[in-house]
Amino acid sequence: MDFANLPPSKCPVSSLSDTFHLSNEQLETVFRTARQNCPTFYLEDIGYWAVTKYADIKTVLGSKEKFSSEITLEPLRPIAPEVLELFRQRGYSPQPTLSNNEADNHSQIRRVAQAAFSPRRNKMLEPYIRQLVNDAVDSFEQDKRADLVAQLVYELPALVLFKLIGVPDKDVKLIKMWANSRLLISFGKPSAEQQLVAAGHMADYWDYCCELVKKRMSASQDDLPSDMLAMRAGDDSILTINNINNVVFGLLLAGHETTTNMSANAILSLLQSKDSWRAIVADKNLIPNAVEECLRFRPSVVGWRRLARMDVELSGVKISKGQRLLCFLPSGNRDEDHIDHGEDLDIYRTNARSHIAFGFGRHFCLGAPLARFELAVILEELTRRLPYMRLVEGQDFMPVETVQFRGPKQLWVEWD
Ligand code: HEM
Repeated sequence: MDFANLPPSKCPVSSLSDTFHLSNEQLETVFRTARQNCPTFYLEDIGYWAVTKYADIKTVLGSKEKFSSEITLEPLRPIAPEVLELFRQRGYSPQPTLSNNEADNHSQIRRVAQAAFSPRRNKMLEPYIRQLVNDAVDSFEQDKRADLVAQLVYELPALVLFKLIGVPDKDVKLIKMWANSRLLISFGKPSAEQQLVAAGHMADYWDYCCELVKKRMSASQDDLPSDMLAMRAGDDSILTINNINNVVFGLLLAGHETTTNMSANAILSLLQSKDSWRAIVADKNLIPNAVEECLRFRPSVVGWRRLARMDVELSGVKISKGQRLLCFLPSGNRDEDHIDHGEDLDIYRTNARSHIAFGFGRHFCLGAPLARFELAVILEELTRRLPYMRLVEGQDFMPVETVQFRGPKQLWVEWD
């Protein structure tokens, strides 16, 4: 489909299947065309309204009265009956806790989880993150080339998160596999067989989280579940054990696929704009704003969902109570009505931080400080160790294939 030359009234896509394999540039063309011609349009194959304007997205994410987040983690495709049966048999019973929780206890659970995510904890992770980047670079530096997804950012955010949660390093591959299954079920388009295999992994994953919290109840450690248990102090009105199981279950997904993809998106964007890369090599003080600009320019969370609680209108389109919306965060971040020259990466941009890569409002990403910090440390170490690194020409970055997340599956770089 020639997205750039659509007639003004035509929506750029009516089926999300079209967008799965698009390159970043093609996807941005879809969003730009939509913003200009039909900023709110219907995606027939999944039954969602796509929202592409910055102001509309902030309205949708920011208004609890009009929009509910309860469908945020719901599978986009219906769950097969045999999968539901497997869940029942395995006692798989996660409950809405943070991102999909609209009950009154959301703010209470969030308060406790946020306290456990203290700046002190983030700071304690700094030497560990630097060490992980340096160990990875040591392992491939002599080769003069590396796939920075496979050899650096695929595991790194998971290892950081596991340190925070107290998961042993040896389990990293297992949990990444389970997390991928969860992504596939919630946000991908699995076949019935794939759904069944993925469902088994999700049940394993849930059991693992419950077991981890149980172990901390009998032997506390210096980690986030132990902190939450201490803050709970045996009082269910502060937090239940099941709340903690659910927070751990949620974080194990929320905290690494997003950051893996975002790290790769940031490195890719900066290397594609050679002047930006050279600038941060020359002056590391530019890195924090470069991180914000990369989050704006190519965020890793593409679509985020809400349910309309009442009849509403968005950019002239009437949406009835009960309809579903998919907010396209990268589109909002480049909206011409919000930002000048949004299609350009500009690491000196003074309003880069006004992006919505971490969402907006009461569900704003709880891990944003950690993610920002991690991205900055990765860039500081890479610019120091591999200042002359460049992208290998002609490679296919192969975007990950879910509707809601985006990042390259591979990122080959080389240096002399
Ligand atoms: C660059 C990496 C990341 C991106 C782009 C990202 C993005 C997002 C987005 C878009 C939301 C939804 C916000 C909304 O509904 O308005 C969200 C929520 C959330 N994120 Fe992140 N995230 C990242 C990293 C992390 C990390 C590292 C953690 C934890 C260690 C984390 C934990 C959470 C949690 C717990 C929520 C739900 C908060 C709530 O509902 O109260 N995220 N994130």
